[in-house]
Amino acid sequence: MESPFDILRIDPDASEAEIERAFRERVKETHPDQGGSTLEFRKVHAAREQILAGNTDLIDGDDLERGDVRTSQGADTTVPEDPRSHVEYLNFEVFEDHGWSLEDDDLFEKAADADLEPADYGHLEVDPNETLLEAAEDDGFEWPYACRGGACANCAVAMTDGDLSTPVDHILPEEMTDRGIRLSCVGTPTTEDATVVYNVKHLPELDELKLPPRPFD
Ligand code: FES
Repeated sequence: MESPFDILRIDPDASEAEIERAFRERVKETHPDQGGSTLEFRKVHAAREQILAGNTDLIDGDDLERGDVRTSQGADTTVPEDPRSHVEYLNFEVFEDHGWSLEDDDLFEKAADADLEPADYGHLEVDPNETLLEAAEDDGFEWPYACRGGACANCAVAMTDGDLSTPVDHILPEEMTDRGIRLSCVGTPTTEDATVVYNVKHLPELDELKLPPRPFD
């Protein structure tokens, strides 16, 4: 019998974002396709379901092993989930040419129809321990950054759907985070899907929060 918090390796007072982040990390570690065990994988799913439902009962691995794959909350834990986050991205630098605004409700529909270059619009998969900036770089893109440490706005992105958890953010004022502005160099997705506009360092309100650009910016 194990505590659901021990299974996810989190404190009992962990926030929902911390729970989701820990879940994604543990799913990746225990996924049978990645060399993990099916039982551990089921325990991780059961732990998340219980914690989110406010149920702190110990989890009985024997129940899960016997094929009783329903948690006490009735959640099915048999379906393997893809632990990656799916991110649709768009470059803020193309907005002016197209007359778009961050407030446009159909921004990403318009982007999908605009025949943009892959560097300006497309989809990324982000691994559980990966930041959004790292995922973009893994795909060969050069998204802007300067400090890579949460101390400037050069890597800022605007989340139009979904969210990023940014444990280190010494720079963005609350009114910017309330508008969905996040730091891609330290931000890991906390949602399965997200839409994000990168290069929003060009917003006038972020001007004073930027560091001098790298020579090739
Ligand atoms: S590059 Fe400075 S906070 Fe991300």
